[in-house]
Amino acid sequence: MDQCDLLICNASELLTIPDPGQAKGGELQGELEIIRNGALAIRGDTIMEVGGTDEVKARWRAERVLDATGMTVMPGFVDCHTHLPFAGSREHELQWKLEGKSYSQILAEGGGILSTVKMTRAASQADLEAQARQRLETMLAHGTTTAEAKSGYGLELETEVRQLRVVRALNEAQDQPVELVPTFLGAHAFPPEVEPEVYIDLVVNEMLPQIAREGLARYCDVFCEEGVYTVDQSRRILETGRELGLIPRLHADELADSGGSGLAAELGAASADHLEFTTRASMGAMREAGTLGVLLPGTPLALFSDHYPEARTMIEEGLPVALATDLNPNCYSESMLLALQLGVFRMRMTPAEAIVASTLNPAHSLGLPDRGSLAQGKRADVLLLKVPNHLHLAYHFGVNLVRTVIVGGDVVVDGM
Ligand code: NIG
Ligand code: FE
Repeated sequence: MDQCDLLICNASELLTIPDPGQAKGGELQGELEIIRNGALAIRGDTIMEVGGTDEVKARWRAERVLDATGMTVMPGFVDCHTHLPFAGSREHELQWKLEGKSYSQILAEGGGILSTVKMTRAASQADLEAQARQRLETMLAHGTTTAEAKSGYGLELETEVRQLRVVRALNEAQDQPVELVPTFLGAHAFPPEVEPEVYIDLVVNEMLPQIAREGLARYCDVFCEEGVYTVDQSRRILETGRELGLIPRLHADELADSGGSGLAAELGAASADHLEFTTRASMGAMREAGTLGVLLPGTPLALFSDHYPEARTMIEEGLPVALATDLNPNCYSESMLLALQLGVFRMRMTPAEAIVASTLNPAHSLGLPDRGSLAQGKRADVLLLKVPNHLHLAYHFGVNLVRTVIVGGDVVVDGM
C-alpha cells in the first residue's frame, strides 16, 4: 500500500469531468463521467488516483479519510469573471431599477460604475483589501477555489494599480486560499474629468505599460458596448495590451449586438463575456477562433431583464461556454451555484452542461489546465456537496450545498 495525505471515499457520485486539453463544447459540453461509490487519493497538492472506493482503498493508506457517503464530489468552481476589488455598495439602485430605469440611464446620470469609481478612489489599499477579503471568504464557502479578478473602478492610473495590488496581496496572503487571476479593465467606463480620447491615450500610453512592467495583470479587458467603448477603441486598447503580453478578453454584446463578440473572435481573445445579444454568426466565429463564451446570468437577473444569453444556440453551434458570477456592485453575488442554477432555469442548460461550464471550461479560459477536472496529476481542488447526485446542484436551489472545500490538498472549509 502507498501512503497519501487525504482519502475521500464512498462518494455517491464523483464527477471527474474528463479534460481533452481544451474547453468542451457541443456534445462534450455536458460530459461529466460519473463514478458511483467513488474515491480520490491526494498527496501534497496533487490528485494521485481517482476511481471506485474499493480499488482506491486497496492501494492507498491515508493520514486522514473523509467519508463522502450520500455526497457528490467534484472539482472546485472556477469563477472566470469577477470585479472583486471594489469599494462600497449600491443597494439604493435597486429602487431605481424597480421604477424602470435602465442600466445605461443610471450610468449616464453618474450612477452605476461611476459611483463605485468615487468610492474606490477614496478607499485605501488596506480598506479595499479588507472588503475584497470578505467577498473571497463567501466565495470559498460556496465552493469557488479559483477566480479571475478585474480592476476597472479607478479609471485613473493610481487607483487601477491599487486595485491590482490588492488582488496581488490577496493572492500572496497565506491565510487566503482562493487563487486569483488578475485582469486590467481600465476601459470599463470613461472617467468624468477627461475627454474620452484623452483617457484612451492614457490607458494605452501610461496605464498598460506600467501594469505590464509591474506584472500586475495577465489579461486585459474592455467594456465594448454602445455608449461605452466602440469596437475600434476596444481594438486599439486590446492590441496594445497584447503587444505588452496581456491576453485580451471582452465585455461584449451585453446591452445590444454591438460588435464585441466579432472583435473577440478577430483578436483570438481568451473569452467574450455576457453575450446576451450575440448572433449565431458571431458564435461560429468565436468557436473557430477558440474564444470561450462566458455567460453571466446574474446580470440580467439583477437588471430585471428577461433577455438571457442564448446558451442552447451556442451549444448547438459547438461553442464552449462557461458560467461566472460577474460579482460586482450591480450584480452582487459570490455564488457559482446561483450562476449554475440560472444557467439551467433561465437558459435551459442541463445540470451537466452547467457543471462543465463552472469548472473545466473556465479553467481553460484562464490558462489553468491543472484544474477543473479530477484526474491523476491534477491539482487537488475538490468540493464535497451534501447532495446525492449532480442533478441536485440545480434542482435544490437557493441554499449552500457545499460542505467541504479542499484547495491544493488542504481542507480549508471543513464540514465533516
Ligand atoms: O460586467 N458591464 C459592465 N461591467 C459590469 C458592471 C459593473 C457595475 O455595474 O459596476 C458587468 O456587468
Ligand atoms: Fe463584468
